Amino acid sequence: MHLGVTHVDSYLLHGPELDDGWTEGDQEVWRAMEALHAAERARLIGVSNISASQLVALLDCAQIAPAIVQNRCYARTGWDREVRAICRDRGIAYQGFSLLTANRSELASAKVTDLAARMRATVPQVVFRFAMHVGMMVLTGTSTRMHMEEDLAARELPFDAADAATLERISG
Ligand SMILES: NC(=O)c1ccc[n+]([C@@H]2O[C@H](COP(=O)([O-])OP(=O)(O)OC[C@H]3O[C@@H](n4cnc5c(N)ncnc54)[C@H](OP(=O)(O)O)[C@@H]3O)[C@@H](O)[C@H]2O)c1
Repeated sequence: MHLGVTHVDSYLLHGPELDDGWTEGDQEVWRAMEALHAAERARLIGVSNISASQLVALLDCAQIAPAIVQNRCYARTGWDREVRAICRDRGIAYQGFSLLTANRSELASAKVTDLAARMRATVPQVVFRFAMHVGMMVLTGTSTRMHMEEDLAARELPFDAADAATLERISG
């Protein structure tokens, strides 16, 4: 391996080649990734930037199902509700990214800022706490120690089903 290691912990396909459908080319790539997994060179294999229908197609033909799905998570799609439901049913870890940057207008709404004020938390903390509440593995793109500490501290915030419903509804 060019990385100079015997194995990697996880190895993700950046995404299917087309916006729609799971192509022969995608299947060929997935077979190669399955072979790397079988050879213990990639402990977990996964896929990113995938739609619900593409994930179903991949699961239909995979010999080894993805252990991880990593998607940009938009509030306007119910925070990727369909893909998350498939992941939950199939025991796949769902990693959400761009939780802040993909949802700037929604996160500026009074519903969210009021909730943050009531929780004595920041808006990023509310979003990350929500994401954990609904079972996501949260990716943050912070480049600062202070924000990383703040983002990690979100784990400790009390959060209930009513708070989650507020976040679920911010897009309409
Ligand atoms: N699979 C893919 O195709 C793909 C594509 C893109 C990204 N990713 C992954 O997703 C990760 C996150 O993506 P992203 O950068 O779009 O995510 P993001 O977490 O939505 O946005 C990062 C931005 O939010 C700010 N931020 C983070 N925590 C904050 C806080 N507590 N208070 C205020 N601002 C805060 C950061 O600023 P500061 O730096 O100032 O904290 C940065 O400007 C990346 O690191 C990458 O690993 C994957």
